[in-house]
Amino acid sequence: MRRKIIAGNWKMNKTLSEGLALASEVVNIAQDEVPSGVSLVLCTPAIHLSQVAAILKSADRVFLGAQNMSEHESGAYTGDISADMIKSVGAGYVILGHSERREYHHETNAQLAARVKLALNKGLTPIFCCGESLATREAGEHVGFVNNQLRESLYELSAEEMSKVVIAYEPIWAIGTGVTASSDQAQEMHQSIRASLAGQFGEQVAGQVSILYGGSMKPDNAAELLAQPDVDGGLIGGASLKARDFIQIAKSY
Ligand code: PGA
Repeated sequence: MRRKIIAGNWKMNKTLSEGLALASEVVNIAQDEVPSGVSLVLCTPAIHLSQVAAILKSADRVFLGAQNMSEHESGAYTGDISADMIKSVGAGYVILGHSERREYHHETNAQLAARVKLALNKGLTPIFCCGESLATREAGEHVGFVNNQLRESLYELSAEEMSKVVIAYEPIWAIGTGVTASSDQAQEMHQSIRASLAGQFGEQVAGQVSILYGGSMKPDNAAELLAQPDVDGGLIGGASLKARDFIQIAKSY
C-alpha cells in the first residue's frame, strides 16, 4: 500500500537556530504522538539541511527534504543546489515545481521533467507539485490543466520510476490564503490524478503513488481532507512552522 506522508514546507522562514529548535521539537513530540504508519518530512531551507540532518538521525519516521534542485549535475550555476549536494547532507526528498518557484522563477514543465528524472537517478524522492490558479478553476479547466502538468513533467518516466515519485496537489488559490479546497474538491482532483496515472502507467503504479494535498491545511481541517480515499497526506506550509500544529495534523490520520 502507499505511504502516508505529512511533509512540512518551511519555505524561506526560520534562522538556523530557530530551525534547529523547531526540528528538535518536532522530533521530540513525533516520537510519542505520531501514528506509526505516518512518515514526516521536513523540507527546510537548504542552508539548514546538514544541521537538521544531525537532529533527525535519532528519529525513525522523520525525514529530510530540500525545497528545490537544479536540473544540472554541477557547474557554473550560481546560487543553485545540486542533487548530489542534497544527498551528501543526508536529505532524501526534494520538492520540485512548487507554484511559488513556477511563478517567481519561471520554472517550466520541461525543466521540471529534467529535475524529476535527475532526482530519481540520484536516489532522491521528488515531491512533485501541481495545481491550478483560481482563474483556471473558475473556467472549469483545472482537471485538464493539472493533467497537462503531469503529462509534460512525469510521463516520460518508466513505471518503476513513477512508482517512486510523490505528487502534491496544491491549488494555487489555497496556498497561504487561509482558503482550503473542500474535501470534495481535493478528492475529485486526487482521484483524477490517480486515474491519469493509471491510464499512463497502469493500476498498480497508480495505486502506489502517494498524492498529498497542500494549501492552507491546518489542524482544524486536516482530518476531513486526510479522510478522503485518494488523499495520502499533506504538504504543509504555514502550519509546519509550529511543531504542535504540524504534529496535530499528522495525528489527524
Ligand atoms: P500553506 O502552504 O500550507 O501555507 O498554504 C502550502 C505549500 O505551499 O506547500
